Amino acid sequence: MEQELKDLRVEFSNALASARDEAALEAIRIRFLGQKSGCLTHLMRGLGRLPADQRPRMGQTVNSLKKEMDAGLAAALAALASPERRGDGLDPTLPGCAPNLGQLHPITLVRRELEEIFISLGYSIEEGPEVETEFHNFEALNIPPDHPARDDHDSFYAGPGRVLRTHTSPVQIRTMQRCQPPLKFIAPGMVFRRDAIDPNHTPAFFQLEGMAVGERVSLADLKGTLTVFWRRLFGDRIQVRFRPSYFPFVEPGAEVDISCILCLGKGCRACGGSGWIEIMGAGMVHPAVFRAVGYDPDRVSGFAFGMGIDRIAKLKYGIEDLRLFWENDLRFLGQFRNESPR
Ligand code: PHE
Repeated sequence: MEQELKDLRVEFSNALASARDEAALEAIRIRFLGQKSGCLTHLMRGLGRLPADQRPRMGQTVNSLKKEMDAGLAAALAALASPERRGDGLDPTLPGCAPNLGQLHPITLVRRELEEIFISLGYSIEEGPEVETEFHNFEALNIPPDHPARDDHDSFYAGPGRVLRTHTSPVQIRTMQRCQPPLKFIAPGMVFRRDAIDPNHTPAFFQLEGMAVGERVSLADLKGTLTVFWRRLFGDRIQVRFRPSYFPFVEPGAEVDISCILCLGKGCRACGGSGWIEIMGAGMVHPAVFRAVGYDPDRVSGFAFGMGIDRIAKLKYGIEDLRLFWENDLRFLGQFRNESPR
């Protein structure tokens, strides 16, 4: 009988270890402790047939095994009910959920790339408000009140004497008012125009302004700077050409073209067959602008330029419709990676 008890103990603990749910535990209880045919119950009944001198000791052994089984079953039942087993707690063996990583907007990537080039050329970065005074946005830039650029149709007005800046050029004025020459800075930022939305126009877009002012800053410096800039951005084979143009705040003023980044000047669809891409405005700072900020145009000279960041992003990534930059479709936005880590 002693051996039987030992075997029963082993059998019970094996059965308990493989039980996965409450039904299995109940089956074990019935198998070992059931009133009618439980193995242990059966042994207990047999106690009466033992010689009297063996009865007390065996009785004790059987009893303690019964207690052990009761306790084992209770513990297994409690373990089944614990949060880990129920699945609503932490299971450290499961693989983690990868968080959705955000990434930079393509316009931000391009802006940073442009900034990087100018920083390497010794330029600082300046900022100005998006809601501007008419003085900074127009007057000080030599744009008189009857100039077409001040027409309601081009500008958003934001109260008397206030406009949403229509270009980043007012940052020229603010920076010159605050600092004395020599100066060399860029001013990237959002600008606003009342344009109808189409693949090439959005009412808000980004520009990057640049300005250098000093004692003998020349048109050659402007051309050299821009040539270096565009070659750094699009490669050493890029040519830069100036066409005379008019902006009220520069004299002489120019439209700047670069050779087409796709066909390098041969002529293709992207450049409309001309081999050139119109990319920015530039020129030598008009004396009236220097006077507006209290600089002496006889002592200092300077150049300024302005370019559309969206347009450069469009070119660089081969995007045909500017509106894609504003629609925030993650499938679109997820395709851009920073090439120059910062
Ligand atoms: N501000 C001009 C524009 O918005 C660009 C420009 C800047 C032209 C500086 C010349 C010099 O189109």
